[in-house]
Amino acid sequence: MANNSVLVVGGGGREHALCMALSSSPLVESLHCAPGNAGTKAISTNHEVSASDASGLVELALHVGASLVVVGPEAPLCDALADRLAEVGIPCFGPVQALAELEGSKLHAKEVMRTAGVPTADFHVLTSSSDIDQALDEFSGHPWVVKRDVLAGGKGVVVTADRNEAKAFIEHSIETDGKVLLEAFLVGEEASMLVIMDGSGYVCLPPSQDHKRAYDGDNGPNTGGMGAYCPAPVATPEVLERTVEEIVEPMHAYLASQVVPYRGVLYVGLMITPQGAPSVVEFNVRFGDPECQITLPLIESDAFEMLYAAATDALAESKVSFHNRHALTVVLAAEGYPASPVKGRLIQGIPTPTADAWVNHAGTGFNAAGELISTGGRVLTCTALGKTLDEAALRAYQVLEGIELEGSHHRTDIGHRAL
Ligand code: AMP
Ligand code: GLY
Repeated sequence: MANNSVLVVGGGGREHALCMALSSSPLVESLHCAPGNAGTKAISTNHEVSASDASGLVELALHVGASLVVVGPEAPLCDALADRLAEVGIPCFGPVQALAELEGSKLHAKEVMRTAGVPTADFHVLTSSSDIDQALDEFSGHPWVVKRDVLAGGKGVVVTADRNEAKAFIEHSIETDGKVLLEAFLVGEEASMLVIMDGSGYVCLPPSQDHKRAYDGDNGPNTGGMGAYCPAPVATPEVLERTVEEIVEPMHAYLASQVVPYRGVLYVGLMITPQGAPSVVEFNVRFGDPECQITLPLIESDAFEMLYAAATDALAESKVSFHNRHALTVVLAAEGYPASPVKGRLIQGIPTPTADAWVNHAGTGFNAAGELISTGGRVLTCTALGKTLDEAALRAYQVLEGIELEGSHHRTDIGHRAL
């Protein structure tokens, strides 16, 4: 199994974390990333192929003799990249198109959960002929949760206590998509559970918690995630046991029994009630970003071995072990993120990585002069490990303090629920 060539698809903080984990494996001889960023460039070969160019990616995988392709974002999976790679005999970490629909269509995910008996919020599917007011009445008393049934890059969900806003979003979504979901509001605390799975078995990675709002105290607009930590104590051993029994087991039974089994990571977005009952807020068919940055470093065993096993239905025989440590990451976001991030600014002061603290590049690249610049909304994520969560937080914020990026902003309270 030695001398492997691996292609990582994507170019954010998640993909830099994947490249970091893979580059430390003695089983990986050559590492490639498409399109990558300034961080992946330092530890792999970047290729100018877009993550949305399925044909180009298959060609590249063949060209670099990839024994494994690891897909970061969901869009190429929804575009059948795994199916295309299977046609040319290259194992892919990431599910085939039919199963990527778990993220591509929220309604499909709901139907699967109903079939598999997995707990999730009640919902209505609304179309132009539905009585919207009656549905809004039924779920009143809490904020309304409205979800578009399309991949919307994090902009497809509105949670609001303003009835007019809910109604406007419903009407707009029906106009553009033909239908929309209205969901019952779930009360509780969120956590993310990443489950590596294939046809033979599954491995639950330690639970983490993201911070989706832009500003401290969970205020401001929704973002892709402003920071995360792992493990998240809200997922107590009892909650984890219930999550495995009520969600992971039935989902795995369903996904492993499909024509082509699910091979990759199932991101289970959980809501945990104050009584400790877990239910599913969403599924993603990829690692979370920034959850990936703080989960992978807690894996003690070989990352390539785990990802390759999952891509080839060999997970049941593979042993995955974890460090007994805490990890935390803080996102440094560009001015104007999430609404309209300013790009192209110089980045300075990134410290030399240590075994306990480093920077994951997210939206970074180089200008014509070869200087490091910002190229996206989430620019860097500052990651650290510690014996305690406090120690990890202290180290991550120390890393962040030295970095200069004009106009940038970050949350100062990552991990606040657990600290
Ligand atoms: P989603 O894209 O489905 O993860 O939704 C985005 C965010 O909206 C979630 O992370 C939650 O914070 C919130 N949300 C989604 N569905 C619900 C729900 N049924 N009840 C409460 N909050 C929700
Ligand atoms: N951090 C949330 C996500 O990746 O969907």
